[in-house]
Order: sequence, then C-alpha cells, then structure tokens
Amino acid sequence: ARILLIHGPNLNMLGSREPGIYGSATLQDINANLMIQAQMDGHSLEALQSNHEGVLVDRIQAAGQDGTAFIIINPAAFTHTSVALRDALLAVKIPFVEVHLSNVHARESFRHHSYFSDVAVGVICGLGARGYGYALQYAIQHLKQPS
Ligand code: DQA
Repeated sequence: ARILLIHGPNLNMLGSREPGIYGSATLQDINANLMIQAQMDGHSLEALQSNHEGVLVDRIQAAGQDGTAFIIINPAAFTHTSVALRDALLAVKIPFVEVHLSNVHARESFRHHSYFSDVAVGVICGLGARGYGYALQYAIQHLKQPS
C-alpha cells in the first residue's frame, strides 16, 4: 500500500536544530530508515517536508486521490496552529498517526494543544526519531488488519 510521511516546518534542519531536544538524526536518516522498513513489508513510502502550510495541504488533498492508505505526520509548529491541515486530513479521511520527536507535554504550554490529536488514530511523542519507526510499524499492522 501507499504510505505518506509528512514533515512540517523546520524539520529539514534536524541534526543541527536544537539537538538536545530533537536529537542528532537528520531528516534524510529518518526517511531512509523508514523507506527500508516499509519496503521490507512490501509497502511504498513517500516522504515530503515543507515549511509551507499550503504545500502540505495540497499534498494531503492529492493523497485523497492517489490511493494513499495511511499517513504519518509530524506537523511540527503547525501542530499548534493549523486548522487548515486538520481540515485537509478530515476531508480525505485517511487514517493518520501524529508523531513528535520531543515530549511536547513537558515543554512550553503553547505546545500542549494539538489541532490533530483528537482526530488522529494515535499520537507518539517524546520517543525521538524512533517514534517514526513505531508509527510505521503500527501503520503496517493496521493495513494488514484494520482495527
Ligand atoms: C515537534 C514539536 C513542535 O512543538 C515543534 O514546533 C516542532 C517539532 C516535535 O517533533 O517535537 O517543530 O513537532
């Protein structure tokens, strides 16, 4: 099946961006590992990072037409601001897991609210880059046996 991995703003700077909070893995490292994990199970994974909300909205809308079966998304700062991305995910009705590298609940209060969590299948946060792997593992099992 087609799985889409979406990374929001500033995540292109992973590796050098506040490594104490976000870790030392680069976005390329994260994407490469997930591609291997997806391919081993016979799935195709496409990754997109953008700093632009509209680009992400457009890609989610397109996912509604291209057979994408599952989305893994770290909306980054848009987590706390974007009704538009929330609405796009609701519009296409593709199940998704929300991932955050850091434990947003242990940080500033403006990071405690997410426009995504109540409509996500689930949320993984605070487990660093490994969180994406767990999300993909969930997606693969969910595609085999939706529950
Ligand atoms: C983040 C947490 C957000 O609050 C922040 O704006 C990010 C990254 C995370 O992965 O921990 O850019 O989504």
